[in-house]
Amino acid sequence: MPLDVCVVGEINPDLILYGLPEQLKPEEESLINGFRLTLGSSSAIFAHNLSVLGTRVGMVSRIGADSLGTMCSDWLGNAGVDLTHVSTSSSGASTGLTVILAHPEHRFILTYPGTMSELSCADLNLDYIFSARHLHLSSYFLHKSLRPHIADLFREAKEKGLSTSLDTNDDPEGKWGNGLKNVLPFVDIFFPNEREATKIAGTDDLEEAIDKLSQVCRLVVVKLGLKGAIARNASGEWRRNGIRVKSVDSVGAGDSFDAGFIHRFLQGATPQECLEYGDIAGAYSTIREGGTEAFRDRAGLERFFREHLKTH
Ligand SMILES: Nc1ncnc2c1ncn2[C@@H]1O[C@H](COP(=O)(O)OP(=O)(O)OP(=O)(O)O)[C@@H](O)[C@H]1O
Ligand SMILES: [Mg+2]
Repeated sequence: MPLDVCVVGEINPDLILYGLPEQLKPEEESLINGFRLTLGSSSAIFAHNLSVLGTRVGMVSRIGADSLGTMCSDWLGNAGVDLTHVSTSSSGASTGLTVILAHPEHRFILTYPGTMSELSCADLNLDYIFSARHLHLSSYFLHKSLRPHIADLFREAKEKGLSTSLDTNDDPEGKWGNGLKNVLPFVDIFFPNEREATKIAGTDDLEEAIDKLSQVCRLVVVKLGLKGAIARNASGEWRRNGIRVKSVDSVGAGDSFDAGFIHRFLQGATPQECLEYGDIAGAYSTIREGGTEAFRDRAGLERFFREHLKTH
């Protein structure tokens, strides 16, 4: 079956800890209310949820020869993601891991990159990648080895007729550069959140950031958490207010939004329709733990979309 979307990126689990004390004290044992070990990483959450929505997705990635890698492969495989181009590292590096301390008002995110820093040009089977209709890449700043080659990959994808999308997520080094400006001209849909948009555009003003970014990529879509999202290109602007839901956490809401948006984009939908689907997918992901637990409940997913496509 030909691929609709090829996702180049990282695969690792999230360990999410709930019910932490307000302040952690050194040397003292603190009890917490609960935890969830689940599929994490922006690229893998995007691939998983997009596949569940019914788009054919394959991943190009590297995992470690360990049980964390096997667990993630099982989750992705069960969602129907093609993993034929996910390799297992022979260097001894382990699959990465993200630990999230989920406080109600804020969260701390600790990532051990593991094999994610190893993913390199040598892992890119271009025939496989360009057999898809669309290329997506997430976590730009975490891909230390691959990063210098991402602009060429996107340029070639455009030459081969693919559409492209990029979600950088956070830059742990706080530099917001590293060649990103060479990639953006080859990005059809750029998916920053509010903070990322202003950091990358180099301004504190969101409107100015959206304006600047919409001049370098074809469509910029800024995710605004509870407030929804804004899309803008040279010919117009589209907005969508968020949906009120009872959220467990917002881990992976951005990646779920991206998945909903791209699912409809590849069906030829308008930017407003893509925003609507992205917003519903983002909100749905928050009603269960982590980025993909809600999407594993396919009946719940159908009900949620049916209800919100009608009433919002
Ligand atoms: N608590 C919430 N309730 C309803 N919808 C939400 C909530 N949080 C996020 N969303 C939806 O999901 C979208 C993406 O969420 P968010 O703005 O948190 O992205 P992000 O910062 O990229 O997330 P991530 O942490 O996955 O990188 C929002 O634009 C909105 O549509
Ligand atoms: Mg994000």
